[in-house]
Amino acid sequence: MTILAPTAENVSLAADALRAGRLVGMPTETVYGLAADALNPDAVRGIFSAKGRPADHPLIVHLPSAEHLPQWAASIPREAIALARAFWPGPLTLILKRDPAVPEELTGGQDTVGLRVPDHPVALALLRAFDSGLAAPSANRFGRISPTAAQHVVEELGEQVSMVLDGGDCSVGIESTILDLSRDAPVLLRPGAISADAIAAVIGRHPRNREEEQDTAPRVSGALAAHYAPRTPLILVSAEGLVDELRRPDRIAVLARSARPQTAFHWRAAPLDPVGYAHDLYANLRELDALGADFILVEAPPATLDWQAVSDRLSRAATGSGARAL
Ligand code: TXA
Ligand code: MG
Repeated sequence: MTILAPTAENVSLAADALRAGRLVGMPTETVYGLAADALNPDAVRGIFSAKGRPADHPLIVHLPSAEHLPQWAASIPREAIALARAFWPGPLTLILKRDPAVPEELTGGQDTVGLRVPDHPVALALLRAFDSGLAAPSANRFGRISPTAAQHVVEELGEQVSMVLDGGDCSVGIESTILDLSRDAPVLLRPGAISADAIAAVIGRHPRNREEEQDTAPRVSGALAAHYAPRTPLILVSAEGLVDELRRPDRIAVLARSARPQTAFHWRAAPLDPVGYAHDLYANLRELDALGADFILVEAPPATLDWQAVSDRLSRAATGSGARAL
C-alpha cells in the first residue's frame, strides 16, 4: 500500500481509482475509512472482503454535501435537515429510509442507509472530485482497533488496498455518532463526539438509547459487545482498584489518567478530558498492544455522560480482547 500526500494530483488519482472500482484509504475527522464507489456492488463487496467483515453489517455512505441526500434517502424528515444544517460536515451519521437505487450490498439487506458528510479537507476534496457517495467503514480488520493515522491503515490492511491518502492524525479520534431517524422516534445507535444533548438542542427531543429498543439485531457492528479490540487482553479497572492490580506478577501495560506509581511495566498517561482522551485513544491502544504485555490495564473513566462515547469503546475493546472481567 502506498501512502500518498494529499496533493490535488493525488486526490484526482484516488478519485480515478475509485471510479475504476478500486478501494482507497480515506482520512476523515473521526477515523480513517476504507472507501469505495457506493453505487458499484463489486467495489462494495471488495470492502467486506478486505476487512473480513460479515456481509450483513451495513456501510456508511459519505457524501460531498447535504445536497446529495435526495439521491440516497427515500424520505428526508425535518429533523434530518435540521441536524444536517447544524452538524455537517461533521461526526454525525444519520440513518434514513433508503432510496430504491441504493445497492443491497451496501445496506446489508436493510431498508435504511447511513449517511454523513465528513469534516476533513482531504475527504471533502476526494468526495467533490468523485462527485457521488463513497461507502467507507473504518479501515481496520473487522473487530480490531480503528485507524487514526495513515500508517495504521497500512498496518491493518497491508497489500489488500493499493493507496491511502495521508490526512494526518484524525482530529476527533473515535467513530461518528449514529442516529437512527428511520423509526417513529430518534434512536442513538452509537455514541460519539456529537452528544445526545447536542442533538436534543437542535431537534427539541432526546434520542432514545439503543438499549431501550425492542429489536436487538446487530444492525450496528459497532454495537456488538466485542469490538475495537487489541490482541492483548484488555481489562478495565476502577481508579481505586488500579494500584492493587499492579501487584500482579504479569507484564502489565497501563492506560490511566491517574499519576504513575513505581510498579508498572509500561505506563501511558491518558489525557484528563474526554475530547483529548478520545483523540488519543486508538493510537494509545495500538501502542500498548504492540508491547507484548500480558495485559493492558485501563483505568475506567468517570461514569458521566461526557465520557459516554469513550466508555462505550473501552468496554467493547475489553470484551473483544477476550479478557475475563476482574
Ligand atoms: O466515523 C465513522 O462513522 C467512520 C468514518 C470512516 O466515517 N466510519 C465507521 O464505519 O465507523 P463502520 O462501518 O466501522 O461503522 C459504521 C456503523 C456500523 O456499525 C454499521 O452497522 C452502522 O454504522 N450502519 C451503517 N448503516 C446502517 C443502517 N442502515 N442501519 C443501522 N446501522 C448502520
Ligand atoms: Mg468500524
